[in-house]
Amino acid sequence: MDRIRRALDLARSQRENSADAADVDRGTQPFAPERPAAIATLVAPTSIVYHHTRVFTPAAGVLEANRVVSPGSTDPAASAFRMLRTQVLQRMDAKGWRSLAIFSPGPEDGKTTTAINLAVSLANDRRHTVLLVDFDFRHPTLAGRFGLAPEFGGDDALLGAARVEDCLYHAEGFERLVLLPARSTMTNSSEILAGPRSREIVSELRGRYPERIVVFDLPPVLNADDALAFAPLVECGLVVASEGRTRRNDLVRTIELLHKTSLVGTVLNQASDTPGGY
Ligand SMILES: Nc1ncnc2c1ncn2[C@@H]1O[C@H](COP(=O)(O)OP(=O)(O)OP(=O)(O)O)[C@@H](O)[C@H]1O
Ligand SMILES: [Mg+2]
Repeated sequence: MDRIRRALDLARSQRENSADAADVDRGTQPFAPERPAAIATLVAPTSIVYHHTRVFTPAAGVLEANRVVSPGSTDPAASAFRMLRTQVLQRMDAKGWRSLAIFSPGPEDGKTTTAINLAVSLANDRRHTVLLVDFDFRHPTLAGRFGLAPEFGGDDALLGAARVEDCLYHAEGFERLVLLPARSTMTNSSEILAGPRSREIVSELRGRYPERIVVFDLPPVLNADDALAFAPLVECGLVVASEGRTRRNDLVRTIELLHKTSLVGTVLNQASDTPGGY
């Protein structure tokens, strides 16, 4: 634990020293969002009718086995994610940010687990709807975590083989949360993620509803260039580190590489001294 905390302190002081330069580089954000036709209608503060988004019923056993914390759960992890949600929301609200990417140095640090449970918790806050996007085309796992086999995914949308609205899924029981899963891996994913269609889709997803928060799950920062290629398209990021797995130098390197991205925080996953392991 101390090892990771020392690495975070070091990375934080390095970022503070380079903050002025990074502020200049951030001059292009945020996006001027487009406002295409609505696909869901807000009929009451807590009830959304999905016209185009496909609705499916995830099995409770599948969710539990995949560490998806259902809304209203009394699991200690739920309270850990509520605390994370509050901190993330405060920082995003203060800047008017609505798009958040989940980063980590290496594989299996807990990015997808964090992305899902943070998204569920954000959607539990009735002021927001949440779109959770799997843009990890190296190891797409979001759909499987909900027991979903999507007909179309973000890969199809990025390649022009499907419309974005054909790739949206709503898991029953997860109010105000919509998933945009990946259907399969994609070659040249970093080029595609940095390309014009990706920019257009992110802008569309970000701008469709003012109260919507978009969370992107991505591949590890140090194993492929996808996450760094995509980082300029989001307004902010959250870094996940895994106690026992993440090496100090890798965490520092990751935060250095993300110096142009505004980070709203760092999550220590699988921590031994916190409730629920977060
Ligand atoms: N706090 C935790 N306690 C126990 N197991 C966990 C915890 N967080 C994640 N896991 C498990 O560790 C594995 C990897 O987690 P996850 O898929 O979230 O990582 P990832 O960073 O998205 O991995 P990848 O880089 O492969 O996409 C999963 O099986 C997940 O269920
Ligand atoms: Mg993952």
